[in-house]
Amino acid sequence: MTVMPADLKGLDLRAEIDRLRKERNAVILAHYYQKPELQDLADFVGDSLELSRKAAETDADVIAFCGVKFMAEVAKILSPEKTVILPDMAAGCSLEDSCPPEKFKAFREAHPDHIALTYINCSTEVKALSDIIVTSSSAETILQQIPADQKIIFGPDRHLGGYLSRKFNREMLLWPGVCIVHEAFSETELLKLKAQHPGAPIAAHPECPPTIVDHADYVGSTSGILNYAKAMEGDTLIVATEPHIIHQMSRALPDKTFIGAPGADGNCNCNICPYMALNTMEKLYLSLRDLTPRIEIEETLRLGAKKSLDAMLGMASTSVGKGDLGAR
Ligand code: 13P
Ligand code: SF4
Repeated sequence: MTVMPADLKGLDLRAEIDRLRKERNAVILAHYYQKPELQDLADFVGDSLELSRKAAETDADVIAFCGVKFMAEVAKILSPEKTVILPDMAAGCSLEDSCPPEKFKAFREAHPDHIALTYINCSTEVKALSDIIVTSSSAETILQQIPADQKIIFGPDRHLGGYLSRKFNREMLLWPGVCIVHEAFSETELLKLKAQHPGAPIAAHPECPPTIVDHADYVGSTSGILNYAKAMEGDTLIVATEPHIIHQMSRALPDKTFIGAPGADGNCNCNICPYMALNTMEKLYLSLRDLTPRIEIEETLRLGAKKSLDAMLGMASTSVGKGDLGAR
């Protein structure tokens, strides 16, 4: 965790970040779950697939990644010649933590006739042990390209895997990981909210358990949910994903109402991703100033992980959002 020097007080952080961004020839990429002030200053805000593509194609010298560690690692895997910085190196992910590489390797070895289709929310080591990476916006398109008789291991998110398995009637061996944020939504509280807003559709991320997804009118990635909000006819939407995405919705659609789905006690902050929340303006400023914390990946490992990421980029739809999970 970064210790804040007292001399940051009184600094115009936004102006300093803008100055350093120019000086360093840096691009700032941010995920939709970042704090509004970080989304507002980013050069690009997107979902995991869009951010991977941006990282692969940028001609900046430095990529400052406002997201979590596995996302910054993807940027480094795809753009090894760039300096990739992450404001707080402790910004991990519960899905990544659920899938230690040595256990995943043993699981793969126990099922040699299966390919590993793996959610991007995992470590670089697990990517290197996988055949094809997917994101929530590319999973459906990619799964449909895999021959029906090919056996599949899907990890580490059992809810995304289970959702795909049910939707496509396709058996898969599921790794038992979950996202602690999406796992925290309460079906009881969601139904109470729905009763208060009977005309409002529900949009859910596929990392949610079936108790939530089964009530959703739309299931998809963060960018998919944002596109659904833009296309829907009504004026109110219940949003079952990390609530910072509502910032982009309210910016794009100021006259519509977006209501975050509740957690267990109806009023908790348990749906805020604690890892994403570690990134702050202060830490972004310091990381641009000092070019640290920096992502470094050993070359053999990087090349191993790049294979499964390249497979994803090749198989995913070329138009953003086209391969999204869509209406149930
Ligand atoms: P998206 O690819 O939909 O942005 O999801 C990333 C993520 O971590 C969701 O928890
Ligand atoms: Fe990981 Fe969940 Fe946070 Fe996404 S929201 S980064 S899956 S812990």
